[in-house]
Amino acid sequence: MISQLPDSIQIKEVGPRDGLQNEKEFVRTEDKVRWINMLSKTGVKEIEYSSFVHPKWVPALSDAREVGRRIERHPDVRYSALIPNMKGLEFALEAGIDGASVFMSASETHNKKNINKTIDETYPVLREVIAEAKSAGKHVTGYISTVFDCPYEGAISPEKVLDVCETLYEFGVDDVSLGDTIGTAVPLQVETLLQTILRTFPPHKIIMHYHDTRGMAIANIMKSMEYGITRFDSSVGGLGGCPYAPGAAGNIATNDVLYLMHQMGIQTGIDEQKLQEASFFIQKKLGKELPSKNLAYATAQLS
Ligand code: HMG
Ligand code: MG
Repeated sequence: MISQLPDSIQIKEVGPRDGLQNEKEFVRTEDKVRWINMLSKTGVKEIEYSSFVHPKWVPALSDAREVGRRIERHPDVRYSALIPNMKGLEFALEAGIDGASVFMSASETHNKKNINKTIDETYPVLREVIAEAKSAGKHVTGYISTVFDCPYEGAISPEKVLDVCETLYEFGVDDVSLGDTIGTAVPLQVETLLQTILRTFPPHKIIMHYHDTRGMAIANIMKSMEYGITRFDSSVGGLGGCPYAPGAAGNIATNDVLYLMHQMGIQTGIDEQKLQEASFFIQKKLGKELPSKNLAYATAQLS
């Protein structure tokens, strides 16, 4: 275990994708574009701007192509998008991506409910997408969902997660993001999983993606940093959730991660004030308060 905390971490802002995909309210394309442009100016280095899945499966992001065409590209930001298959990749390349995020689950049942395929049926699809995206010069991240618990099957073994991780690396991904899709994990589970994964992969190859259903995500991020992990996914205000994982709440809020890191002298490169402004913007568009405690505090200061 590495007990020393890092000097800096990297955040991928997934609000425009993971955040909005679960929203009943359709955010107008022009508002998404304005919001992503605001996020681009916060100092964040990667934004997952939308998802090229089937529009019937995720109607909230059915305008991915238009969003991709209209956003202003900041030279320091990698713009990535979620891609399930070759059709999604084709649309994403047309719309413009720097990074392709492929995804599957460590749990058979969640994989089937989420992408309508068994794990064995998913592998050849992802192998082709990863190879094509790499030959188009794109960065490729492989998401693995339900790495601790599945809403249908319960506990998932770390060996199963390692197995999927090894396969995605064999296919050519640049990094892997491990998802606590339904936000059940506590630091002890993080420790058990990372002890298994880090036997094979160095910490810089692993990103942690925590949903904050039970308020454990910050504790899990702290535990991950003790193991040398310095890359985390988070979403503005704590928006988010997987529509095919019942009960899953939003990602850990970027606002709360920034507060934690900056108070501890860990650099993120992100301007907290600009991030709050982008949070107020989307909060207003959605017409509801977002879960982030830090954002709630900032909102109360305004009134
Ligand atoms: P399917 O119905 O099995 O697809 O869905 P298919 O390959 O049989 O094709 C059926 C029709 O869909 C065909 O059209 C295809 O062309 C079309 P037809 O010939 O009937 O006219 N089609 C598409 N159209 C547009 N875009 C596409 C596309 N693909 C096929 N990309 C599919 C399979 C994967 C498409 C579907 O199950 C799907 O879209 N699932 C996405 C579910 C999703 O987005 N879930 C949330 C994201 S994952 C997540 O949140 C977890 C994560 O955050 C990490 C964590 O938290 O753990 C990443
Ligand atoms: Mg997620």
